Amino acid sequence: MHAYQVDSADGIGAVKKVEIDTPTPGDNEVLVKMKACSLNYRDLLITMGGYVRNDVRPIVPLSDGAGEVIQVGKNVTQFQPGDRVIGNFFQHWENGNIDDAGLNSALGGSINGVLSEYFILNEDCTVKIPEHLSFEEASTLPCAATTAWHALVEVGNIKAGDTILLLGTGGVSIFGLQIAKAKGAKVIITSSSDEKLKRAADMGADHTINYKDTPDWEEQVLSLTNGQGVDNVLEVGGAGTFEKSVASAKVNGTVSVIGILTGLENPTISLMTIFNLLRIQGIYVGSTAMLTDLCDFMAEHKINPVIDKAFDFSESMDAYNHMASAKHFGKIVITN
Ligand SMILES: NC(=O)c1ccc[n+]([C@@H]2O[C@H](COP(=O)([O-])OP(=O)(O)OC[C@H]3O[C@@H](n4cnc5c(N)ncnc54)[C@H](OP(=O)(O)O)[C@@H]3O)[C@@H](O)[C@H]2O)c1
Repeated sequence: MHAYQVDSADGIGAVKKVEIDTPTPGDNEVLVKMKACSLNYRDLLITMGGYVRNDVRPIVPLSDGAGEVIQVGKNVTQFQPGDRVIGNFFQHWENGNIDDAGLNSALGGSINGVLSEYFILNEDCTVKIPEHLSFEEASTLPCAATTAWHALVEVGNIKAGDTILLLGTGGVSIFGLQIAKAKGAKVIITSSSDEKLKRAADMGADHTINYKDTPDWEEQVLSLTNGQGVDNVLEVGGAGTFEKSVASAKVNGTVSVIGILTGLENPTISLMTIFNLLRIQGIYVGSTAMLTDLCDFMAEHKINPVIDKAFDFSESMDAYNHMASAKHFGKIVITN
């Protein structure tokens, strides 16, 4: 079958088109014909090496794939050929707390991912696609959307009237916006682009801040919240934004530590973390149960993921380069 593999840590150039054997499903696995997959910032990091717990190379990249089941293992009971499915990011995390086996089962990082004509999923970590979603839309859910759901709903207990701070307009943040608004929360979102902020406002964001024009954006967050701060920050920025996110959170609020878009250098621990009794909560994507709940929520609220651009399978390198350019708003998809 046609596939791509990451074979070194040389950046996007490490992704090569290859011919490999079509995998055969084990007793509890399904074989899926890939119809669409989506990119996450993490997929760029993986081309540079060192982002996953157990670096495996060569490896088929990308965690987020949607497709049609074409073959099932002999013990599979929940799926049959023709079913439209997506795979959970972690192929051995069904529910509850994650363990070592779960952590070592990240698609496109620890085990072969989905940027190939066919891919294998564990039956217990496979989810049916909500009827209102296309393959392209569904392919965006396993990583970015589940992460936003985990931070906002699963550990954030978001409720109507809460205020949520989102940084930038990438995949996690735009799903955060859609989930938070459907939950009746207020949203403050930042971006480097006024055009992207306008789009976010059109989607329901209550307040927008250009973080390039307003480098001290945490002060504006406080002023927009009467000096109180926000209930939960989806902290995707890392070293360059962490301290500002801490300063933006309210007493007893949460900083959901998700990403490293600006790098990894250790930020200073702020006294505000102590004096405001903040919860600094690490988030690592989510379980199959969380992905299932997210799908039900999206179906109930008829939420459609925001797709910035779709590329053909043969143009996968263009998709990687588009993500690296950070010109996108929402998700980048590859179709087959
Ligand atoms: N922990 C987890 O489980 C998990 C899961 C998913 C993602 N992540 C991490 O979360 C981060 C975001 O991932 P993603 O896939 O959503 O990325 P993405 O779609 O590539 O997001 C890129 C966007 O981030 C924004 N950005 C960049 N620098 C920023 C800054 N200094 N302040 C505010 N926004 C900034 C930019 O938005 P504008 O163009 O609007 O300025 C940029 O377009 C990555 O570090 C990723 O590794 C972690």
